[in-house]
Amino acid sequence: MHQDLTYLDNASTSWPKAPTVGQAMLDAINAPVGNPGRGQHRISRHAGEATQCLRESVANLINAPSPDRICLSSGSTASLNMAILGLLWFDPQPEGKRPRVVTTVLEHNAVRRPLKHLERDGVCEIVEVGCSPDGFADPEEIIAAAADERCVAVAMTMCSNVIGTAQPIEAIGRGLRERAPHVLFITDGAQAMSALPIDVEAMGIDVLAFSGHKAMLGPGGTGGMYVSERAYSNIGGPCHWGPIRPTQYGGTGGTLAGSIEDFNPPHMPGVFEVGTCNAVGRAGLQAALCDPGVPSQPEALAHERRLIGMFIERFAGDARVTIYGPRQTDRRHGVVSFNIDSYSPQEVSAYLDTEWGIAIRAGLHCAPAAHRALGTLDTGGSVRASPGPFSKDEEMGTLIEAIEKLLES
Ligand code: ALA
Repeated sequence: MHQDLTYLDNASTSWPKAPTVGQAMLDAINAPVGNPGRGQHRISRHAGEATQCLRESVANLINAPSPDRICLSSGSTASLNMAILGLLWFDPQPEGKRPRVVTTVLEHNAVRRPLKHLERDGVCEIVEVGCSPDGFADPEEIIAAAADERCVAVAMTMCSNVIGTAQPIEAIGRGLRERAPHVLFITDGAQAMSALPIDVEAMGIDVLAFSGHKAMLGPGGTGGMYVSERAYSNIGGPCHWGPIRPTQYGGTGGTLAGSIEDFNPPHMPGVFEVGTCNAVGRAGLQAALCDPGVPSQPEALAHERRLIGMFIERFAGDARVTIYGPRQTDRRHGVVSFNIDSYSPQEVSAYLDTEWGIAIRAGLHCAPAAHRALGTLDTGGSVRASPGPFSKDEEMGTLIEAIEKLLES
């Protein structure tokens, strides 16, 4: 039994976090943290400034035109719900008149379930496009489906959380702006944010939902979404919500003139941010984004690709190990998903945990349709290993050795 923890589950949540995150959160909870926008005193003002700094850090990361296009939330799931429900609303339509949303089989339940609920309630139709055997959606298929005049949005992941395939987001976004400009492009950046280069303008993205606790190396319960000007604009006054309307209403703080309104004041980004925020979590996320001890995005990606490459190279020729996704690592982020003959993913996970102290994730990874497409729905999903920027070669070596021993047994 190896007592040391070998943590290879960064696609689920990253660990270790950026070195300064813990201290920043302690400082934020031990000092008066303040409630941004909810007071005129200096502590509240300071909290407001800290929030704006976080928006700036996020905007810089994704080339957003302004920090005010960044709405903060508890993470990707909350953001995707806001965007999808806020676009389609709970507005049942007769069959034949329902708006369409194009999506893919690769989606996490954070995209799939809001859409399925709306479809069940007669609000929208879902057009689900497939993927290639190695886990990529086809831009042409998505753009052609979206060109239908009833289509209102394409909602899809930037990167499969099951097999780590980086989707052709730029080709899709550019194609949509040219051939289906009426369609909003809603992207799930849970896995991609900070892991892959993202430029929301060059990629034609209207909504980018992100979580702070994965490749951003921040705490859980943080995240948000970028919202483009055309997806939400307050032009037209307080009753005009733009294509995406807020789905939650409540206190937004701010000025007397704002508080007296019966409706959320329409200004970005506060219109999507009601209630008191997770200021401690935000302090942690901001620390992560400014931490000099964190490798740059290209460095981290190259490192993680090299580590999963070690695993792929070792087992790609072994008929007892099925590795999903492309052999080349340059079309993935740091995820390798696999199965071992004669063992369920859950058995492999239990063996790695109890015998070797290795933490990986096994199962469906909240993306059942991806497993149906890969042929792994009935086998209990897959085993997924995901190194992070601080993972060591020896840790991937331990995983490889553990799998070798399992195959010998
Ligand atoms: N969505 C996370 C994962 O893929 C939790 O594991």
